[in-house]
Amino acid sequence: MLSREKPDYILNYMERTKRSRQLYERACKVMPGGVSHRYRFIAPHPFFIEAAEGSRIRDVDGNEYIDLWMGHFALILGHRSSVAQEALEEASRVGTHWGIVHEYQVRFAELLQELVPCAEKVIFGVSGTEATMYAVRLARGFTRKSTILKIQGGWHGANSELIWAVKPPYERPETLGLPPGMDRYVKAIPFNYVEETLRVIHEVQDDLAGIIVEPVVGAGGFLPAEREYLSMLREETKRLGAVLIFDEIITGFRLSLGGAQEAYGIVPDIATLGKVVGGGMNLGVIAGREEIMALCDPTVPREKGEGVVVGGGTFSCSPMSMIVGYRVVEYLRERSQEIYPELERKGRVLREGMVRALTSHGILARSTGMGSLCGLYFPKDESVKVKSPGDIQSLTDVALLDHEFRLRMMNHGVFIMHGGGALSTAHTDKDIETIIEATEDVAKEIRASR
Ligand SMILES: Cc1ncc(COP(=O)(O)O)c(C=O)c1O
Repeated sequence: MLSREKPDYILNYMERTKRSRQLYERACKVMPGGVSHRYRFIAPHPFFIEAAEGSRIRDVDGNEYIDLWMGHFALILGHRSSVAQEALEEASRVGTHWGIVHEYQVRFAELLQELVPCAEKVIFGVSGTEATMYAVRLARGFTRKSTILKIQGGWHGANSELIWAVKPPYERPETLGLPPGMDRYVKAIPFNYVEETLRVIHEVQDDLAGIIVEPVVGAGGFLPAEREYLSMLREETKRLGAVLIFDEIITGFRLSLGGAQEAYGIVPDIATLGKVVGGGMNLGVIAGREEIMALCDPTVPREKGEGVVVGGGTFSCSPMSMIVGYRVVEYLRERSQEIYPELERKGRVLREGMVRALTSHGILARSTGMGSLCGLYFPKDESVKVKSPGDIQSLTDVALLDHEFRLRMMNHGVFIMHGGGALSTAHTDKDIETIIEATEDVAKEIRASR
């Protein structure tokens, strides 16, 4: 009875994903909400994946999708690329985990130092969440100040330092379990709004340790920073002796070999890397200026509490992550002249094509993104201008984007995030054409349902 009241696209999805539903019911008995990562829940239930190859994934009910999620945007060479598969075999011959220093990690660090502009020194960890946490600790340790500014709507992982001002209302804590008074030392600034941001910087300037920003805000739907905004952050942090941190966990090795810092020509003091750099293995990297990174040099004799502890973690520098990450980044370096312009071209075709498909059927839509990152939003009216994640939340139809449009696209065999996602070298022109055709079919359905 209840299910009859559900809209057609949900019923259609449920009909196509019955085996997933059974697995999800089992999952709910053993995991809260049936998932271990909140972004992996999709109402009414997520589909369960069975196989993945190139640009395609298949679920346990046999449905195929063109994947634009690409493992949280990590898989720039596509699923099961031959480069990553061969590297995995190479790694499996030597070991999965040693916990002892080895040559592969030196080789990988040398490669990152060569390619990432701010990487005078690098440290490897196991996740992006951890990398951003340590970046903030380094900023505070280096400046001996406490206040960190982050972007409203910016997601840097769920560590307790930075899980703040992710979703509106930005002044309310995101979660229970944080120490009281967090907002005293972590304050949020509106992305791309220069005057408002300057006002906050001036308010906290005597205690400013650092500013952390994604040059293209992922959780906001791939909103690129305006150049002027990043330049202002660079100048202000320099003027105040504070640390500028670029969270390049999405943009690193995706926008270019040198990431967003190369694309924008603005070099931060520290960058955090993850996703693409691991080649599909779990990896987080902190890369930064020598004098800041020197604070965690364990060979320097210091009084307790005078250095910065960067844990690394039991599984840091595993031969798996070092070999696979190295091989993928090496491959990107060897073919960068063809890979990045080609990804950029395909990104442009996809962004323009999806917007055209929607608007030609009377649905107001605009694209976001840069290079191979493609997003969409549905403005509430023609006059809407979106610059920040806050604008997306207040001026656009987020429910349509994140649920109805997404589910309808899945029913047409395309798995998206933020209205799009991340292209890989495995996505062909034909895939892009298919996605645009699916968008057109979905546009017609939405139009007919209103
Ligand atoms: C920009 C950004 N920073 C940090 C993180 C956290 O990285 P991880 O999920 O590897 O912990 C993410 C993950 O989505 C991210 O997109």
